[in-house]
Amino acid sequence: MDNDHEAHEIAHTILWDGIKDSLPLKTQIEKLVEDNSADIEPDFLGFLGTYYYLSHIIPHDRIIYDMGCAYGIQAWFFRNHKKYIGVDVLTTSFFIQPNAECHTMTIKDFLAQHGIESPHFAICNYVPHWYDDNEKIVRDNFRHLFVFYPEGGDDGLSGKMEEL
Ligand SMILES: C[S@@+](CC[C@H](N)C(=O)[O-])C[C@H]1O[C@@H](n2cnc3c(N)ncnc32)[C@H](O)[C@@H]1O
Repeated sequence: MDNDHEAHEIAHTILWDGIKDSLPLKTQIEKLVEDNSADIEPDFLGFLGTYYYLSHIIPHDRIIYDMGCAYGIQAWFFRNHKKYIGVDVLTTSFFIQPNAECHTMTIKDFLAQHGIESPHFAICNYVPHWYDDNEKIVRDNFRHLFVFYPEGGDDGLSGKMEEL
């Protein structure tokens, strides 16, 4: 098994175990997946392993900017951080919890319309180059960040709009 796959499996187990006694949280996640407006498979909640491990490393006083967050279910791992702000261009219903807010818009538009609060930490994980070069935009705007996309074509820009 790939090590990243194993990390996601571990994080999925931790999430379901953590919310097993909360009917509202379980129902919320099931509804989001049914609604399925995010660009991920219905039986897959996101690349949760990355978020789980980052949540252990990023200090709790940081505001988390999750650029391209899909449903934002990973906000649950940041429930003890100062704030979680998710942005996704496709998602119309997001995971809701007290310290989280989410926006349906492109990353570029979000940054044009909202200032960046600090102390911050931005995450841009597995976000393709739809509409804009999202990785570059995140790198150009945030000082503290984690950006990852699997290496693709010759130009390194995998996940471009025309590849859809
Ligand atoms: C494969 S999912 C990854 C979700 C999450 N970051 C994770 O790691 O599980 C990619 C997400 O990026 C979003 N996305 C792509 N281009 C975007 C853009 N320009 N602005 C905002 N979101 C974007 C898609 O709608 C999709 O939900």
